[in-house]
Amino acid sequence: MIIKKSEFTISSPNVTKCPEDTKAEYAFIGRSNVGKSSLINMLCNHKGLAKTSAKPGKTLLINHFIINNEWYLVDLPGYGYAKSSKTVRNKLEQMIAQYILQRKQLVNVFVLIDIRHEQQKIDREFVDWLGESNVPFSIIFTKADKLSPAKAKSNALLWMKKLEDRWENLPPYFITSAEQKMGKDEVLDYIEQINET
Ligand code: GTP
Ligand code: MG
Repeated sequence: MIIKKSEFTISSPNVTKCPEDTKAEYAFIGRSNVGKSSLINMLCNHKGLAKTSAKPGKTLLINHFIINNEWYLVDLPGYGYAKSSKTVRNKLEQMIAQYILQRKQLVNVFVLIDIRHEQQKIDREFVDWLGESNVPFSIIFTKADKLSPAKAKSNALLWMKKLEDRWENLPPYFITSAEQKMGKDEVLDYIEQINET
């Protein structure tokens, strides 16, 4: 699929303030600083569309971007940023959980994982919660440019394999790099495939 047009629509503090629209939505979630906003910019070939930062905790609202006037990409705040206060973390976690559970237009959640690290408890708990909640999701490994292609692949496979202790049907996964525009066609084709069904 080709993205011809991508535009910022609105930032919302909670799910009730999100656009009153029935178009399909695809949301990006993961630990703070994992590369959610950068990935959205890479997919859209639109630098500066979603705001990025080297410091964690940049995205603090639910951000909608309308794509080809047909569907939305949604940039969510990251979870688990240890340096933010407990009150802020709880508020963000609630915002994210309500959006994911209540937003009827949400078609698929992409959970972003930094490909350099072993499976972290917080990510595993989040993925298990999505599974228990029957929320359709896929895994996107980010920052693959930081490893050799072989190491990136083996890390991703190992991460996925660890899900097998609990989940029989593993979700699809993608290896990406916003820096090198890797994985763009795979993710966009996957979205297109869902859009058509
Ligand atoms: P929050 O909004 O704070 O939760 O962060 P985020 O997940 O949106 O991350 P963001 O896209 O702002 O990127 C965080 C940092 O990682 C920035 O310094 C990016 O330049 C860097 N980064 C993102 N994607 C990649 C990538 O594919 N490769 C490399 N090398 N760096 C990346
Ligand atoms: Mg962000």
